[in-house]
Amino acid sequence: MRIKPRLIIVCGLPGSGKTTRAKQLEKQLNAVRMCPDEWMDALNINLHEEDTRERIEALQWKLGQDLLRVGLVVIIEWGTWARVERDTLRLGARALGASVELHYLTASPDELFERIQQRGRENPPIEREAVDRWYEFFQVPTAEEMALFDEATVIEKEIKPS
Ligand SMILES: Nc1ncnc2c1ncn2[C@@H]1O[C@H](COP(=O)(O)OP(=O)(O)OP(=O)(O)O)[C@@H](O)[C@H]1O
Ligand SMILES: [Mg+2]
Repeated sequence: MRIKPRLIIVCGLPGSGKTTRAKQLEKQLNAVRMCPDEWMDALNINLHEEDTRERIEALQWKLGQDLLRVGLVVIIEWGTWARVERDTLRLGARALGASVELHYLTASPDELFERIQQRGRENPPIEREAVDRWYEFFQVPTAEEMALFDEATVIEKEIKPS
């Protein structure tokens, strides 16, 4: 039996829990997860190098589309702050006959900053004001946008955040 391909977009600001959610879905659905930070770490690239991050995301989208073509479930957890980025992914996946989910995660700026600090992964560390700037910049999915996606998979078992 051929399984129907599915793209899952997990969107949200840093610290919102994208990787945590994406790992849950990866396990639950036997999916392939696309995480730029993991590739950057593996290649010894500083996480602040935005140009390289963009190139890695482009590679991941190319690979992701190949995986959708062969009927797999692909999870993209890049952040996708802009509606236009999410539109491109949604339309690209649908053109391949895939269904598409959007999972939007959020928390207050204080909570995001607290989690990012606790994790202590960036060098130099993220500054508190940066989180407020990101909050302004992020395009929260509207009800109208959410309605363009298929119904989101329900998480069976929450992974306890580390
Ligand atoms: N629902 C939650 N409640 C409390 N803490 C959480 C929750 N989800 C994730 N966390 C914790 O917050 C931190 C950030 O989570 P995670 O790495 O999943 O976020 P992220 O969105 O992938 O961030 P980034 O964009 O920087 O990769 C982790 O330490 C995680 O354990
Ligand atoms: Mg992450």
